[in-house]
Amino acid sequence: MARLVTVTDPADPRLADYTRLRDVNLRKSLEAEHGLFVAEGEKVIRRAVGTGHPARSFLMARRWVEPLADVLDGVDAPVYVADDATVEAVAGFPVHRGALASMRRLPLPEVASVVAAAGRLLVLEDLVDHANVGAIFRCAAALGVDAVVLSPRCADPLYRRAVKVSMGAVFAVPYARMRHWHDGLAELRAAGFTLLALTPDAAAVPLDDAPSGDRVALLLGAEGDGLTSHWLAEADVPVTIPMSPAALGQGVDSLNVVAAAAIACHALVRG
Ligand SMILES: C[S@@+](CC[C@H](N)C(=O)[O-])C[C@H]1O[C@@H](n2cnc3c(N)ncnc32)[C@H](O)[C@@H]1O
Repeated sequence: MARLVTVTDPADPRLADYTRLRDVNLRKSLEAEHGLFVAEGEKVIRRAVGTGHPARSFLMARRWVEPLADVLDGVDAPVYVADDATVEAVAGFPVHRGALASMRRLPLPEVASVVAAAGRLLVLEDLVDHANVGAIFRCAAALGVDAVVLSPRCADPLYRRAVKVSMGAVFAVPYARMRHWHDGLAELRAAGFTLLALTPDAAAVPLDDAPSGDRVALLLGAEGDGLTSHWLAEADVPVTIPMSPAALGQGVDSLNVVAAAAIACHALVRG
């Protein structure tokens, strides 16, 4: 049973897990050091707890205690209750959904175990935007992708913004992080995956003509530079979602990576 503790001082050391949630650099070091992540909002907190992540603590406005009572009843962690101004002063921004939870990370599985039973895979190379990573997980969950594999430098799916944008899909879709960027794709090919490199390059195979099969992995590149030349060369087939001639005429030569993921996942899962 969680214990309710009223807090009034934003500098209270017991709230350290929630300090300056917008500061990416601070959060990266703090979260890595303590093996934690922050879930925001009732639904996401429910999903985080429901998927077996142990809670370190909660921080919320009093109005959220009752709606979350069933979750709080089942965990052994302090629930810090504060007014909105205090929560905002700790987090560094207005927490509209008024409820935060600091959760322990679970150990990430190895790539081999995550892909063992997968037929449809997304592979993300060096994405930097946490919101994009979260939105791609939401696409993956919504469209029936089995698992996600991240390059070693890809943005963290458990960063607060990614968790929030994914609406908790980061807890639903199994994922793993490659240990080595250079040989990471070779491991997937050895596991029987056909590797399709998604690229705006008009010379690539149109998505409608892309090969299918029992095991297919879609590779998506970074927001600015796209897939590296190494991964493009390692892939079995470069695949493109054809851009309209009018768009190209106006200098719009690629899709946002989330839009590309959604379109390609839909086609991939349809087979
Ligand atoms: C914003 S794009 C990067 C643009 C970069 N200039 C390039 O040439 O790849 C980010 C990722 O979205 C995917 N993408 C964007 N537009 C695409 C399209 N028309 N067809 C297939 N994939 C696309 C690719 O995986 C790409 O690496």
